[in-house]
Amino acid sequence: MKRFIVTGGYGFIGSNLTRLLLRKKYKVLNIDNMSYSAQKYNLRNIDKKNYLFKKTDINNKKEILKIFKSFKPDGIFNLAADTHVDRSIDDSFNFIRNNILGVYNLLEALKIYKNKIDSITKKSNSKKLNTELKSIKNRLNESINLNEKALKYFDDKN
Ligand SMILES: NC(=O)c1ccc[n+]([C@@H]2O[C@H](COP(=O)([O-])OP(=O)(O)OC[C@H]3O[C@@H](n4cnc5c(N)ncnc54)[C@H](O)[C@@H]3O)[C@@H](O)[C@H]2O)c1
Repeated sequence: MKRFIVTGGYGFIGSNLTRLLLRKKYKVLNIDNMSYSAQKYNLRNIDKKNYLFKKTDINNKKEILKIFKSFKPDGIFNLAADTHVDRSIDDSFNFIRNNILGVYNLLEALKIYKNKIDSITKKSNSKKLNTELKSIKNRLNESINLNEKALKYFDDKN
């Protein structure tokens, strides 16, 4: 069974994505810091069998890395963000912290996690384990590439 992390899973997009992934019989770990826009109601009545929740901030690198290592995701969807343009005009600090530094932090944790997998692969003699790790690594590389493309797009636009 594939395992996905959804950040901001109590938000509008994150909760709908979580529902979709659960419907497709994937395992989902929702990471949300329960800020002003988190709505527990968004995930009411979901089947909790394949669902986990961690109240964590995506800027908490140590905790994020711990979660990556224990959950071993196949992929990560980042929907954690400060939202609503009017709020960003009133006070942009949290937007920069969560939407820029938070993404950077997730990518950094992802790279450390991937390097850890690399070093286990090098030490391991198990063919089966190595094949599984290689496939996780490929999917993580895809995630990193996509996120880096998104950051570049943001950079080019500004
Ligand atoms: N809603 C839309 O129509 C729409 C359309 C296009 C793109 N998007 C993008 O999708 C993303 C999510 O949008 P949304 O409408 O679901 O937002 P939302 O405000 O409904 O939800 C954001 C969620 O992220 C969580 N969060 C915020 N900062 C966090 C942090 N540092 N660590 C962990 N969790 C954190 C919040 O608690 C909340 O649950 C945003 O990047 C938004 O720009 C949204």
